[in-house]
Amino acid sequence: MIIKDGKVFFRGDFVQKDILIEDGKIVKIGNNISGESIVNAAGKLVLPGLIDPHVHLREPGATEKEDFLTGSKAAIAGGFTTVIDMPNNSPPTTTAEALMKKGELSKKALCNVLFHFGATDDNFEEVKLAHPDSLKIYLGKTTGNMVLRNPGSLEKHYDIFPKDKPIVLHACDHSENEDENLTRTYKTIKAAIALAKSKGRKIHLAHAATKKELALARPFPNVTVEVAPHYLFLSTKDLPALGTKYKVYPPLKSEQKRLMLLSAFEEADCIATDHAPHTLADKEMGAAGFPGLETSLALMLTACNNGILTRSSVIKKMSENPASIFGIPGKGKIEEGFDGDITIVDPKKEWKVKGSELETKCKWSPFEGKTLTGKVYSVIRSGKTVFENYTFI
Ligand code: DOR
Ligand code: ZN
Repeated sequence: MIIKDGKVFFRGDFVQKDILIEDGKIVKIGNNISGESIVNAAGKLVLPGLIDPHVHLREPGATEKEDFLTGSKAAIAGGFTTVIDMPNNSPPTTTAEALMKKGELSKKALCNVLFHFGATDDNFEEVKLAHPDSLKIYLGKTTGNMVLRNPGSLEKHYDIFPKDKPIVLHACDHSENEDENLTRTYKTIKAAIALAKSKGRKIHLAHAATKKELALARPFPNVTVEVAPHYLFLSTKDLPALGTKYKVYPPLKSEQKRLMLLSAFEEADCIATDHAPHTLADKEMGAAGFPGLETSLALMLTACNNGILTRSSVIKKMSENPASIFGIPGKGKIEEGFDGDITIVDPKKEWKVKGSELETKCKWSPFEGKTLTGKVYSVIRSGKTVFENYTFI
């Protein structure tokens, strides 16, 4: 397959190049590559298949909300060829057996799926046995019940989990009062960072919702941090429009704090959707979480079109950076020898977010009705086209 005449994201810049993919791998990047099986990318952006390091695909346990097929279709339609799935399932992914079963279930996914393993107060041996891609520790409440209770558990997991991989921390507090909530969250993060520093351990902070969280992480080379589009583009100003769908952990912040986070965007290491679909009935009952896979890239590109962010930085934080943080070999870059995972985007295509038209099983979006600029046109996974001309094939 030859992807011709697109603006290719290559070594940090957009350049006019052709890409030759053979046997699922990128074998050549150059100009005027000719041959059969041409994909015409003229006028399009050609990106490395994007990587979302934080999704909840809900299988097993809550397949009325999402499953590996619908969630992976949402991923592909949003430009992601690789996602890392969270462990707060039912049963939770906290044993080697649960991880193996989940791996089996994920075979129906249309994208690559990796897994965060859940830490508990007593599953140290299971972590060793399962040898997961990543370990997730909940230090604050979440959907499911996975919070560490024993103060010694964090340190023990820090010691046991391989040092070359990060441990992902969910640190947010959920009290309704914003100041109280943030004070507690920052305290938790500071303590977790101090302990990590003393042990030379890599940690990754999930879903930063304020500029301060980015600032807390920044001085430490072993601490990385992700930001989710809903904290960049929604605030408490949007609560009335969100109605019964408003709830998310961490909670949305004031408009002022949102703008501060947006202005500090460069300090984030990567973008993660925290795609957390729920049925509308569950939302009415107070379930926390927003779906985000299908709106993330378009929201980010729209902010680039408006001059708020820059494309190269956004794309790096959605591809190369998550691959490097989580040590995913052969992914996140368009380079010879890398996997043939490519996302082709029409940067000018305007579209309106309509929940009913999304691939996610939950069929709603917190960005309902917003007009965005930039849409995923085609997706190639391991050299095979899975999505073309805005449609699954
Ligand atoms: O809003 C959230 N929803 N935050 C989380 O941490 C979990 C997620 C979920 O699984 O629903
Ligand atoms: Zn999450």
